Amino acid sequence: MWTKACIFDLDGVIVDTAKYHYQAWRRLTDDLGIIFTEEDNERLKGVSRMASLDIILEIGGMKLPVSEKKILADLKNKWYVERIAGMTPEEILPGTLEFINELKRNDVKIALGSASRNTPMILERVGIKNVFDAVADGNTVQKAKPDPEVFLKAAELLDIKTARCAVFEDALAGVEAALNAGMICIGIGDKKILKGAHMVVRGLNEMDLNKLIILEKKLGYEHLI
Ligand code: G6P
Ligand code: MG
Repeated sequence: MWTKACIFDLDGVIVDTAKYHYQAWRRLTDDLGIIFTEEDNERLKGVSRMASLDIILEIGGMKLPVSEKKILADLKNKWYVERIAGMTPEEILPGTLEFINELKRNDVKIALGSASRNTPMILERVGIKNVFDAVADGNTVQKAKPDPEVFLKAAELLDIKTARCAVFEDALAGVEAALNAGMICIGIGDKKILKGAHMVVRGLNEMDLNKLIILEKKLGYEHLI
């Protein structure tokens, strides 16, 4: 097959941490007197911690100096870490391990590509640290999605050509990052939101090797092998 590596985003693809991010941001926005809804929280998916705070302050019509923003972001992260510290392997989203194991049996490398600086802790808590051949995350890259840096870094760590990587992403910024990296992109979620993805499924439980091979053919990759 054409695909030599699959790169997975973490939040919203492998685990559902959006609810913990929301709870931690809500604690902050309640303190600040900003009305922040679950709908607003959708805008933060795939967005880095500081950029998320900027969106929240914009919603609240607040402007703060960088030094104060740093304190607030650290506070939010402290509350977020308290929540993810209690995560268990049961929180791995359905179909994830089955699909990853099928890929591994077919010699496809597995990498993680996430903006989160809490990636190591989450992988450890849900017990899948050793599943990945490479991990690129917010601790190893500078530029946020839609910049392709995190996915290019994962491909580099695996020593696999970018065109032979497929990315699984639940956020529009992440889909754009994958396309900017010149990779195949499978969206996880809603087709209407994840514009540009080569294919969209609702979750990894709807994914299997055969669907990936059919997609490669549709994109004309089989002629290149
Ligand atoms: C992921 C999530 C975002 C989060 C970002 C940074 O991309 O989808 O909602 O803001 O990671 O996470 P961190 O754990 O570093 O605050
Ligand atoms: Mg995500």
